Amino acid sequence: MGLIIAANWKMHKSASEAETFCRELRRREKELQGVEVLVCPPFTALAAAAEVLAGSSIKLGAQNMFWEDKGAFTGEISPLMLKDFGVSHVIIGHSERRHILGEDDAAIRRKLEAALRHGLTPLLCIGEKEEERDQGETGAVLERQLRAALEGFEPGAFKELVVAYEPVWAIGTGRAASPADADNAAVLVRRLVEQLWGSEAASAVRVQYGGSVNAGNIGGFAALPSIDGALVGGASLEVDSFISLILAAREAAGC
Ligand code: PGA
Repeated sequence: MGLIIAANWKMHKSASEAETFCRELRRREKELQGVEVLVCPPFTALAAAAEVLAGSSIKLGAQNMFWEDKGAFTGEISPLMLKDFGVSHVIIGHSERRHILGEDDAAIRRKLEAALRHGLTPLLCIGEKEEERDQGETGAVLERQLRAALEGFEPGAFKELVVAYEPVWAIGTGRAASPADADNAAVLVRRLVEQLWGSEAASAVRVQYGGSVNAGNIGGFAALPSIDGALVGGASLEVDSFISLILAAREAAGC
């Protein structure tokens, strides 16, 4: 299974900064061969990024969306609005949304349903907080988040599903998880998907690692057969560091 590496810019970059980044990334597109590369700008920069990336192999993702198609939902963005820009992927349940913006498992579930309805590939984020990890609850937390998000969907419902394991304590802290932590999480994801939908679905789901990942440490994750890529925050903000990370991942994965 190929690597999928996504840039999550969070609340960074104006439309013109996004345009400059995407232009440079596109200019260097050949270097990215063999890796599925995805850029997730803020909503306000989607149009600029879409225009530059149109016709390239670099895909466009959103960082969030609402679950309804339209209506009286002030401040929200619908899946249809995203599709209008050629968005193909959407991050759902990022820990900053869960823990800063108060998004709960029920909201995340509805967003997954909406992604499915509209053919958007979800990057479902899961991850434990530091105190949960300290109390030995990592597995239970991941399982609860996964069950709340996925249970009840039919086997084969998702043409593509990406699960990003992002321990909350590793995000933006410079303190990445160990490859062994990521491997344990990926094994848990596949075991649960197998229980829900069978072994074919379990081998089709792709698992990313995210949390202080950079060109220097990605190799340890990408070399694992269980890890299929990364969700990258800080190291995705500059084209050079993002491309270095992609190249290091590809080399470690041997693809
Ligand atoms: P980070 O963010 O790489 O800056 O830790 C990752 C993420 O939150 O997706």
